[in-house]
Amino acid sequence: MRKVKNIVVVGVGAMGKGIAQVCLMAGYNVTLVDINDEIIENAVLYIENGLNKLETKGKLPEGLKATDLLVKMKKTTNLSGAVKNADFVIEAIIEKLDIKKITCKEVIDNSPDHCIFASNTSSIRMTDIAEGCGKPENVIGMHFFNPAPLMPLIEIIAGEKSSKEAMDVGVEVGESLPCLRGERYVPRVLTDRPGFIVNRVLAPGRIYSDYIYDLADEKSIPWEQIDADISNPEAPMSTLVLADFVGRDVSLHTAEYYAETLSPDFEPGKLVRKQVAEGKLGKKTGQGFYDWSKGRPKPDLSKKAGIVNPLVYTAIQANEGCRVLEEGICKSWKVIDKAIMAGMNFSGPMKSATKNYKQMAEILEEYSTKLGKPYLKPIKLLKSGKFIDMV
Ligand code: NAI
Repeated sequence: MRKVKNIVVVGVGAMGKGIAQVCLMAGYNVTLVDINDEIIENAVLYIENGLNKLETKGKLPEGLKATDLLVKMKKTTNLSGAVKNADFVIEAIIEKLDIKKITCKEVIDNSPDHCIFASNTSSIRMTDIAEGCGKPENVIGMHFFNPAPLMPLIEIIAGEKSSKEAMDVGVEVGESLPCLRGERYVPRVLTDRPGFIVNRVLAPGRIYSDYIYDLADEKSIPWEQIDADISNPEAPMSTLVLADFVGRDVSLHTAEYYAETLSPDFEPGKLVRKQVAEGKLGKKTGQGFYDWSKGRPKPDLSKKAGIVNPLVYTAIQANEGCRVLEEGICKSWKVIDKAIMAGMNFSGPMKSATKNYKQMAEILEEYSTKLGKPYLKPIKLLKSGKFIDMV
């Protein structure tokens, strides 16, 4: 396997700048590419500040100073020039298939034969990004979690034509990147399906959430009480603050994407459609579930509405985890739980399912009927408990 020395990060916005920082910390030569100088300068400032802070705290690799790493960083708006000597390119540009395809082809056309193109897409199939690039065997997915320097998970995704060597190099690069909170976890995603592992397992929970939001909106129940019902106490942000932070438009588009690719039962609920139509997108417009005009809201979660059954979420996730196993996306239920902890910082559903799968199957029968959503019915692999042997 060829040793990776030169990494190019294309798109240095929210994700790309953090990715570039950890690549520098791992000792690679890193070139930042974006479409204008101002965005690049912002990323440079972010990386300089980040590395200087780490130096002050004594958290840089033994014997290294921020300046030692920063001399290995280059920047440009010229992608085709930047990739001339690249061994590995990480793409973190806008989530649009046509633009990702053009970028992938430009990289493959202008880089050495061995260069690997790794996309940080959060949803698009690698096979689609690689189509028409000429070397689909060199294209893989490399899905970081936000913020990349802090969240240990990186999913390495195989497109239909990705070579084993490209996957191996992806895993090796992923494992070489330092993580400021815990050990990196770099599982292989073996089939190119929507949502990969973590986002896929968590995806159908939104069907139940939309049901609850629509009910709460109809009955005018305060959002804080719903948030108190719905939030995972282990999670760093309450669920509705996180929903506003991500953006209600993003949630709507994600639901539409899963409705198209997985099942029509993912069709977005009434409330999220209304929020988007009214421009109540969350943090970015100053209003979503909460008012953001005075900064991040701090909801009082002491009073619950009492309309959410948290076991429903765990059961839905465990059922989806079984689908992930059935579709060959990964081979062990332990990988699912480990990936959720490393990417989201809360416990996955599978360990609990090994003990409670029968009760979970009953809950799923009840709620799939109550919500009129056949997708939530328990699948055989869960009902039979056979997934337990997939370790
Ligand atoms: P962003 O909008 O903050 O950054 C995207 C950057 O790409 C911008 O700086 C933009 O100028 C640049 N760009 C757009 N077209 C370009 C082109 N043709 N050539 C070079 N640069 C170009 O977006 P963000 O949030 O960083 O997302 C980037 C990718 O990472 C997306 O595919 C997204 O789905 C994925 N992702 C995002 C996560 C998140 O939490 N924000 C988490 C995991 C993946």
